Amino acid sequence: MPRETGTDLYVLGIESSCDETAAAVVKNGRQILSNVIASQADLHRSYGGVVPELASRVHLETIIPVIDSALREAGLQLAEIDLIAATNGPGLVGALLVGLTAAKGLALAAQKPLVGVQHLAGHIAANYLSDPELEPPFLCLVVSGAHSHIVQVNAYTDFKVLARTRDDAAGEAFDKVARSIGLGYPGGPLLDKAAREGNPEAVDLPRTTMAGSFDFSFSGVKTAALNQLNRLQQQASQQGGSWQDQVSLADFAASFQRAVVDVLVDHTFAALAATGQKRLVIAGGVAANSCLRQQMADRSAKEGVRLSFPPLILCTDNAAMIAAAGYYAHKAGRTDDLSLNAVPYLELGGD
Ligand code: KG4
Ligand code: ZN
Repeated sequence: MPRETGTDLYVLGIESSCDETAAAVVKNGRQILSNVIASQADLHRSYGGVVPELASRVHLETIIPVIDSALREAGLQLAEIDLIAATNGPGLVGALLVGLTAAKGLALAAQKPLVGVQHLAGHIAANYLSDPELEPPFLCLVVSGAHSHIVQVNAYTDFKVLARTRDDAAGEAFDKVARSIGLGYPGGPLLDKAAREGNPEAVDLPRTTMAGSFDFSFSGVKTAALNQLNRLQQQASQQGGSWQDQVSLADFAASFQRAVVDVLVDHTFAALAATGQKRLVIAGGVAANSCLRQQMADRSAKEGVRLSFPPLILCTDNAAMIAAAGYYAHKAGRTDDLSLNAVPYLELGGD
């Protein structure tokens, strides 16, 4: 496809904060021309989680071919790109450095502007790719493997964090419980699948709320689930059977999933009520969860809230969302120089 001239802005996005090496080309922050994702899930599966050192090494091997594919699929040469956007935090520092360094090298070689993107701003921006009408202000629940935030998005680059998790993130809790009940890695999608036919009321699990705050805490429900599992396993070993003779895997998974989702939904709607917002967006890997999507849709319909969420491929880590967020950051006047560094605990809205 020949590149159109004029005021259009073509952004090359690069993402390597965890275990996906990704590159994408996005036009004007909204239209995906390519979205290449090389997942390392198979590599980390046998360890039950991401091994940072291995992740960095594989990013290093994969980053250039992935960028090449993204440009090729978009039908563009590097010279035709207007801006390079790369995740510079939060994430695994060794992993972040690979994508960021590649971005800096390309920006220097091709004399292109560079912009660093905060990963959660990227997740939020995934919604601009899937919902052409979405514009701030809106409220966003961002739920990933490491974060559970409720964010007031005042403008494309103006974020106010209204709530965060005090301990585990929702995705982390999903992954840990999934591993304990014998599902593989990554646990979230497998637990979602296992829960499909289950009864969400089969196992009684707590819903933790914080007085005077929308903050989350998932370590309690995680520990309660693991204690229940322990008890079932002990009973099973005394009786010479399997714990699943007493509670099916589907019922256990559905009950845990529902306990987490109930809290995510309740806190988000409490924040909507407190801020008077009627526009809601969900983002991040856990936004792929079918129960969360359904419960959010039901509650939104009941309360007259307009809800958006991205397709599954844009919920989990990808570089199209980084390109979209980079586009809006650049439009707001931001350009970074080659001293831009990877920041493992970079805050949303922080520099
Ligand atoms: O956003 P993401 O791809 O990476 C981070 O930025 O962390 O999120 C990954 C997290 C993992 O914890 C994964 O298990 C979870 O998202 N996840 C899900 C589902 N798909 C991905 N959790 C629950 N249900 C799903 N369908
Ligand atoms: Zn992510």
